[in-house]
Order: sequence, then C-alpha cells, then structure tokens
Amino acid sequence: MRILIKNIKSLIQADESSPLKVTGNRIKTLPCIADAWLAIENGKIAGYGKMDDWEGISDWGNLTVIDATDKLVMPCWCDSHTHIVYAGSREGEFVDRINGLTYEEIFKRGGGILNSAKRLQDASEEELVESALKRLNEVMLQGTGAVEIKSGYGLSFESELKMLRVIKKLKALSPLAIKATFLGAHAVPADYKERKADYIKLLVNEIMPAIAAEQLADYCDVFCEQNYFTPAETVEILTAAKKYGMAPKVHAEQLSNYGGVLAGVEVGAVSVDHLEYVGDKEIEALKKSDTIPTVLPGAAFFLSLPYPPARRMIDAGLPVAVASDYNPGSSPSGNMNLMVALCCIQYKMTPEEAINAATINSAYAMGLSETHGSIAIGKQANVFITKEIPNYSFIPYSFGSNLVETVIINGKVMN
Ligand code: NIG
Ligand code: FE
Repeated sequence: MRILIKNIKSLIQADESSPLKVTGNRIKTLPCIADAWLAIENGKIAGYGKMDDWEGISDWGNLTVIDATDKLVMPCWCDSHTHIVYAGSREGEFVDRINGLTYEEIFKRGGGILNSAKRLQDASEEELVESALKRLNEVMLQGTGAVEIKSGYGLSFESELKMLRVIKKLKALSPLAIKATFLGAHAVPADYKERKADYIKLLVNEIMPAIAAEQLADYCDVFCEQNYFTPAETVEILTAAKKYGMAPKVHAEQLSNYGGVLAGVEVGAVSVDHLEYVGDKEIEALKKSDTIPTVLPGAAFFLSLPYPPARRMIDAGLPVAVASDYNPGSSPSGNMNLMVALCCIQYKMTPEEAINAATINSAYAMGLSETHGSIAIGKQANVFITKEIPNYSFIPYSFGSNLVETVIINGKVMN
C-alpha cells in the first residue's frame, strides 16, 4: 500500500540527520517543513519535501492520496512507560485519596499495587489480552504509535509469567510497536512481607531464567522507594537481569529522594522514570551517563506530587523524555497529548521541548529511536494527521481536546 499525504500545512519533526535522542539546542527546536508532502511505501517513510519541489510519483499505482490542507503531520507519540496490562480498576482508592488518605497509606493497608495484584491473579490470559487491546486501541487513536508495557501486577512466578505472555500476545496482535518490561520488583507481595530477600531470590533465581527461556522481556524495572526496594536491592536485581539479556530501567525518586537515579546510573539504566524528588546530585550523575530521565506527568498530576525539575534537567543539557505511566493506580490515562500539555503547563517545558520529549526522546527511552520518533526516510511510517489547527503549540494549548484526526501505523490508515 502506498500513501501520499499532500498540502501538509507543516510536517513536524522532519529530521534527516536522525538523531537517536535530542538535548541542548536541538531539544529546544522542532525541525518542520511548511507546505509539505510525505510519501509512504511498504510501511516505511519513502520520501518527503516541500510541495514546490515535488516532482510527482506518477509511476506509483495503487496510491491513496490524502489532502492535509491546514493540517499538521507528526510522527506518532512514543510512550516508553506504561502498565496497561491490568485487571479491574481502582476508583475506590481514588475516592479514598480525595477523602484524605495518601497513596502510601493505601498501600500499607494492602491496597495500591497489591490490590491490582489480587485482581490480576484471578484474571485469565484471554481477559487480560482483551482489556489491554482495548487500551492500546484507545491510545493509538490518540496518536500513540509505540508503547512499552510492564509486568508487575503478578508478583508471583505464575502471574508474572502470565503478564509477560499477555504482552507477547499483544506484540503479535497489535499493530503498535511494543516493548516488554519485567517489573517483578514492583512491590513485595503480602506472603513475602517478612522475607523480602526470599522474594528477590525468587525473582532472580526462578523467574528471570524462565523469562529468558521464553524471551519474554526486553527490559527489567524496579520500583526503588521506601517500603518497596532499596537502591542496593535495585542494583542487585538489575545486575542479575542484565545477565539474562534484560536492559535496566528504574522507577526513581517518585515519592522521596531515595537513591533510585544513582542506582540506575550505576547499572547503566536505559531510563530512570518519575523523578519528582531529583536534586543536583542526581542531575550531575545523569550528565555523566547515557541514562535518559523520563517524566511521567500523568502520575504526578493524579497523585498531586511535586513537579520534577524538568526545566533544570533540560538546561543542564539532559535529554528529557515523557511517557504516560498508564496504570490503574497512579495514572489512569494513556493520552500522550495530555502528557505533552502537562509538560508545558506544569513543568514549563516549551511545546518544542515537550514534543521532542514525547517523540524522539521517548523512542530512545524504549530503544526504538532508530526506527520511530521522527520523520526520516526509511523510518517506520507511524504518523498522525491533526485536525485543522494553526500550529503545533495549539496541541498542548488545547489540552483535553482531541486534535488527532487520522492515525497511520506501519503505513496503514487505522481509523
Ligand atoms: O509508576 N510507582 C510505582 N508504580 C506505578 C503505580 C502502580 C500502581 O499504583 O498501580 C507508577 O506510578
Ligand atoms: Fe510506572
């Protein structure tokens, strides 16, 4: 199938130099082509340029032409941090928090992640695939073209493998690019409460070899936080994971300044995510690493957490990424348009910085920036066409509106 999109008001993030991530002056700018065309062939971006310079492609048969007059074309959002495989929902805890309980108090009562773990244990693989596919479809129509998905509501040998097998099925069933992350160290399950060391042994000695045997995970993640896993345990778990071919990631400094970023840098994490309590020490460590700091403004917004120092990280020369954290407890939304808006409104990132964070940098945070996250010849044709809007700043400005009109994944129109 061949698609030609013509008369594009502005083709956003068109960058033939194909950087793998952007920092410094480049994160502050968004390369765009006004009055542009984009050609797609065999699922890939085949060409693009200015309408004035277009020589035509009359030799193409079987061509779908889309007129994008007054509309923008952008690379699809990349969402490098989600927990979209889950059973049930947690609006009861949401109301409890409105009435004064904290996220941590709810967890200590056996709620939170443990609540989702109980529900997931009873759900079949089929039910989990079906509900996750609905969520994937929902975010796809909001412009997301690549998603990382974590386990971590299993917390036992059987249920963690069940979650990862569900993610493997989603990779086969969904047109989206999907990466799988093993998050067995998301919380200590109730039956291991007094013997965390035994739970870590289960993760490392039993679950990891089984994951490797079935090749179920690309990454391994740890929730490094008081009452969850310490920095030393984080290093231990992620060092073991690397031996099984899983690259490290960390949930770091979300609820306190606890050492997750330094642990992540120590093991060469691909990304450290959340970062509400990051300080100068963490920023200095990140500057000496290839680890990408990733903000999750949906979770900070939903839990009323302080804002991470996104501006300071960008001004220090770091390549910030943004993801949704879509999950039933701390961010029941996977809408990347909203995440981009929150970056601008709350974190004072410019629209250029926020869009870079949600495209090329988030692609980097999930190991996909060679094929996703920008417009360049040969890259995957995952793009969306907006409704008629004046410019890209209008996207975060109109927070809450759906401005995505047409989504193209692997060169196929999805809606
Ligand atoms: O990324 N912080 C830890 N994990 C998730 C929340 C999980 C949950 O509450 O279900 C997060 O915010
Ligand atoms: Fe998370």
